[in-house]
Amino acid sequence: MSSATSKNVLILGANSDVAKQALLLYAAKDYHITAASRSTDELNSFITEHAIQGQVDVVYFDAVDYTSHRPFYDDLPQKPTIVVYAAGFLKNNEEALQEWKGSYQMMQVHYCGAVSILNIIATDTQNTHLENIIGLSSLSGVRGRKSNFIYGSTKAAFTQYLAGLRQYLFDRKIRVNVIVAGYIRSKMTEGLDLPESLILEPAFIARSVVNPGKQFTIVPGFKWKIIYHILKLLPESLVAKLP
Ligand SMILES: NC(=O)c1ccc[n+]([C@@H]2O[C@H](COP(=O)([O-])OP(=O)(O)OC[C@H]3O[C@@H](n4cnc5c(N)ncnc54)[C@H](OP(=O)(O)O)[C@@H]3O)[C@@H](O)[C@H]2O)c1
Repeated sequence: MSSATSKNVLILGANSDVAKQALLLYAAKDYHITAASRSTDELNSFITEHAIQGQVDVVYFDAVDYTSHRPFYDDLPQKPTIVVYAAGFLKNNEEALQEWKGSYQMMQVHYCGAVSILNIIATDTQNTHLENIIGLSSLSGVRGRKSNFIYGSTKAAFTQYLAGLRQYLFDRKIRVNVIVAGYIRSKMTEGLDLPESLILEPAFIARSVVNPGKQFTIVPGFKWKIIYHILKLLPESLVAKLP
């Protein structure tokens, strides 16, 4: 159980490889963590393996079960100081184009689910402890590209939501950050043929999650920072030549 003084971190989609590394970093800072996930057994094993059971509560959370979000939030024993939204789902663009289910699931996990739970959290003005909301988004959301525009567009929507939420919460001194990540070595990218020199480790991304700073957009890794800035500036005719 948490002490009255410790910060409480709520991680949504906590069985993500990045989220688990962030969880360890928060635990090392002596924070109390509420790890919310569909995969509670897997998370409990991870927490036991790292001997941090005393600092972590594991709770069931499904990002796409919208009607459960209000009771989920109301039942939290301690309202969060920090919230991390890490849930993610990737379906290959070609498959998603052919099969609505995959497209819809990406929309649900990255946008609808995030908006549903974060609206509830953000409008709880009784929670005066809330300091920071951090969302895990993607470079795929920066420009529409033919190889991944369905996943990318759901991440673009999430990023824009967070940008507005940041403005909305400014007067309450609640900071909102978005992690705009490139390739990460995680369950999501397993089996994909990605350039090794551009793949970042979950622990590296997790350091940005846990120490986000004041800027809204955080792009972990210097190579990805360069790619991000080029992508932002590139004329549409050149973006069209990219995969
Ligand atoms: N991997 C990359 O290259 C990359 C790049 C940029 C951004 N990102 C984003 O970074 C975040 C973390 O991803 P990751 O790389 O750590 O991949 P990951 O290990 O595959 O994590 C994704 C997590 O999302 C959870 N999730 C999916 N649907 C959910 C739902 N309906 N409710 C609750 N949780 C759900 C999964 O839960 P289960 O464990 O229960 O299946 C999984 O643990 C994601 O938002 C992802 O889109 C990833």
